[in-house]
Amino acid sequence: MIFQPLTAGLLALCSSTFTSASVIPPLANQGVLNYADHANTAHDIDADSVTRPSWFTSTLMARRLLALSPNGVISTTFPSQIPAWSRTPAEVAGLPIGLREYIADCDGILPEYLSHGDNGDPTILALRIATTFRNTAAGSNLSLEIDWWDHLSEAGAVYPGLPPSPAALPRITLFGYLDPLPELSGIAAVNLEKCFLRSHPDAKYWLPGTPGSPHASFWARLVVTQVYWIGGFGDVQQIGWMNVTEWKGIRRDGSLAGVGDGRGWEDVRLPGEKHPAHGAL
Ligand SMILES: *[C@@H]1O[C@H](CO)[C@@H](O)[C@H](O)[C@H]1NC(C)=O
Ligand SMILES: *[C@@H]1O[C@H](CO)[C@@H](O)[C@H](O)[C@H]1NC(C)=O
Repeated sequence: MIFQPLTAGLLALCSSTFTSASVIPPLANQGVLNYADHANTAHDIDADSVTRPSWFTSTLMARRLLALSPNGVISTTFPSQIPAWSRTPAEVAGLPIGLREYIADCDGILPEYLSHGDNGDPTILALRIATTFRNTAAGSNLSLEIDWWDHLSEAGAVYPGLPPSPAALPRITLFGYLDPLPELSGIAAVNLEKCFLRSHPDAKYWLPGTPGSPHASFWARLVVTQVYWIGGFGDVQQIGWMNVTEWKGIRRDGSLAGVGDGRGWEDVRLPGEKHPAHGAL
């Protein structure tokens, strides 16, 4: 990857950053570090400005990303044997398919007997007819990719010397299995609907049990078993597998005993977020 800096100023900014930032070990395959090839040491940038967040801070950012994301791409695999009567081509047997679905971070409002304690298992509104949920019904596990790429205009340029770049913004993939929730009634159903409809007002037409709904649906959650994080470019952000105990132990306003340093996902911000989000959710 070769980036052409737009101005001499940017060139100086980026090149001096990486020639002086010896605290950051260059990573193989991080083409961005080739910036240093254009060395121009007219300016000096504090090396701290390119220090990676800790893994725990990154996990807070990841939980915040889940909390703020209304949708994500769920990947499932088609069954290895596709029935002859099916309209699905036999050739896609066993292949993965990624489809965007509505999600919400509503586990914390489920009734106590059902909730996983607000542990970062996303809530999903599943349509029985949808390919994603036909695949899970046939035994597929799943992964869910969510990202911050829609926020490029607020985030602006986050990487020294590079124009605004989606590749510099966080994304995450949650691996696990689908756990259909039992039918809810009364206040439990109302609370979950309220939580979900906050980010998906249109989904009221196909909530579980809605009379006249065009499609039968059910509530489910993704039980997270592994978490893969790409915080941005690897010299300034973490990239890799997260500690699932930390992922599950983080809450909005803190974390479980033995996890992290007392902060919750409300204590971090994603690129471009300006105002404290308290009250905004
Ligand atoms: C789904 O994942 C579980 C572990 O979470 C595993 O035991 C099972 O074999 C997986 N199913 C498939 C179809 O790969
Ligand atoms: C994951 O985090 C927990 C809680 O901080 C810690 O006890 C555990 O050792 C960590 N696991 C790994 C593999 O680092």
